[in-house]
Amino acid sequence: MEAVRRGSCFVVLCVAVAAVLACSAGVAVDAAAQELRRGFSAAHDPSYSQFEPVLCDPTGAFALGFLLVNSTMLDLAVLHLPSSFPLWRAIPDRPAQWSVPASLSFDGDLVLTDRTANKVLWSSGGAAGDRVVLLNTSNLQIQSGGSPSGVVWQSFDSPSETIVQGQNLTSAAALYTFDRRFAMRLGTNYFGLYIEPPPSSSGSVAAAMYWKHTALEAKAQIVAAGGPTYARVEPDGYLAMYQKEGPPADVLSFDTFNHGVRALRRMTLEADGNLRAYYWDRDGSRWVLDYTAITDPCSLPSTCGAYAFCVPHSGRCACLANATDGSGCAAASVGGGLCGSTGGEVGGLYWEVRRQRVEPANKELLPFEHSPSAADCEARCARNCSCWGSVYTNGTGYCYLMDYPAQMMVAADERKVGYFKVRSLEEAASGDGGGRVAGVKAALLAVGVTVLVAAAAFGAYRVWKRRFRAGADARRQVGADDERLSPGPYKNLGSFSSVELSSSFRR
Ligand SMILES: *[C@@H]1O[C@H](CO)[C@@H](O)[C@H](O)[C@H]1NC(C)=O
Ligand SMILES: *[C@@H]1O[C@H](CO)[C@@H](O)[C@H](O)[C@H]1NC(C)=O
Ligand SMILES: *[C@@H]1O[C@H](CO)[C@@H](O)[C@H](O)[C@H]1NC(C)=O
Ligand SMILES: *[C@@H]1O[C@H](CO)[C@@H](O)[C@H](O)[C@H]1NC(C)=O
Ligand SMILES: *[C@@H]1O[C@H](CO)[C@@H](O)[C@H](O)[C@H]1NC(C)=O
Ligand SMILES: *[C@@H]1O[C@H](CO)[C@@H](O)[C@H](O)[C@H]1NC(C)=O
Repeated sequence: MEAVRRGSCFVVLCVAVAAVLACSAGVAVDAAAQELRRGFSAAHDPSYSQFEPVLCDPTGAFALGFLLVNSTMLDLAVLHLPSSFPLWRAIPDRPAQWSVPASLSFDGDLVLTDRTANKVLWSSGGAAGDRVVLLNTSNLQIQSGGSPSGVVWQSFDSPSETIVQGQNLTSAAALYTFDRRFAMRLGTNYFGLYIEPPPSSSGSVAAAMYWKHTALEAKAQIVAAGGPTYARVEPDGYLAMYQKEGPPADVLSFDTFNHGVRALRRMTLEADGNLRAYYWDRDGSRWVLDYTAITDPCSLPSTCGAYAFCVPHSGRCACLANATDGSGCAAASVGGGLCGSTGGEVGGLYWEVRRQRVEPANKELLPFEHSPSAADCEARCARNCSCWGSVYTNGTGYCYLMDYPAQMMVAADERKVGYFKVRSLEEAASGDGGGRVAGVKAALLAVGVTVLVAAAAFGAYRVWKRRFRAGADARRQVGADDERLSPGPYKNLGSFSSVELSSSFRR
């Protein structure tokens, strides 16, 4: 496994070296240019194995080109050549295979086309410029006119999952993981990380904020009429939040803050939902980790996924209600609302799970109401079509309401009483023909907890191998290692005695 990974990295490096040569030695004739003019067109050559450069920056550190992603797919990307790290990707709405005869053309607008189907895969969106250049910041610009030239489009305004040093992240943009499960967005005086609703949920699920950083406003106030805020990674090693240039309204410092490290820096929302910053260590030829937003695995949504809970500080997971075959506790909800997407009549297709001793890891970010009892708290959620779950705290009387399928739950003390609506992929897909599912469910409920305990007993005792450590060693890992942090199988924690499956099955 490791060898395979190294092998493919090696190939990437070789390609990058070739691209560096193409970019720096002035071999711009048939390899890569330094400027694209109107009328430019380049056909993609699928015989390249990883990356085919088309346009270089003046320093030879970055190139725009065709990038092979996910083993088979084609994308347009700006690569940091020494590391082969894509700093920007176009991410076409309709992805194409690497083998399709694609071409990149520029006629005022930069367009990626599938030539056989004559289909536009991606375009910069109606920009009317005279030339395309790649700046030494990695910013891809479409410029117009003479001097000073106007910028009609730039890749810095539509980031994918990374911002580099000097790039403004405004509230008009957001960072998304490539699978679009997680996002980073700016609010008026804060920025947050969110679990994105599945595209198929058609509005029945809200984005769930799982991490929030609020501006301290020590050196500059954010004022209501002062326009939108923006964030930027600064060369001194911090993420600054501004409303206007000058002293920042907030400084989120990295490990090397003010250590005099002068290197290319980037901040990336990674596949596991964590936000990390790195700098490029030229001598060591690696990205050095410099900041990690979330150090507690239970506060990271990818650790346990939907309908599961996490044991604090261990990163171990168990399902809220079910033993599991390793694929997860239940597929996150798709399609329709909780109150019937067809008729509008109350009674969508879901089942209810009650579980004590769990609470939301992100409860500080959740709305709550005061409630006299657990039953009252539960009823507030049960009758509310946009509520996916509630957790009541016996004692304080806080009733937390979730407008997304249960995620980010952690084990807690016995005063916490949770109530969750579970709607699986299968149920959602079966839609109106839910009678069969209902029958299965009735049988399941009749056998009830026995089945669950049996399943638990036979359930996977696979060891949770997550290598999540906040310790210094792990923090030195380079970007290429990040894939190892993807979620693994669910470990069954055994006791399901406190699970109660409701017999109410709503239609
Ligand atoms: C990458 O490939 C895997 C399996 O081949 C697939 O499940 C996944 O959706 C793909 N991701 C993207 C972004 O295309
Ligand atoms: C990048 O280009 C600008 C001017 O376009 C220049 O001032 C700066 O020194 C360059 N930086 C590097 C690292 O080459
Ligand atoms: C970032 O925003 C500031 C303030 O609007 C602007 O002066 C600067 O040119 C922007 N930088 C880039 C790279 O767009
Ligand atoms: C629980 O297990 C049953 C049987 O395997 C399955 O049909 C159901 O979807 C599971 N429910 C959840 C919430 O995982
Ligand atoms: C229904 O639940 C949502 C989210 O949990 C909450 O924002 C909303 O205020 C609730 N509506 C009512 C009428 O209680
Ligand atoms: C809540 O606390 C009260 C008083 O301590 C206790 O009687 C009651 O059983 C508790 N309810 C739950 C659901 O734990």
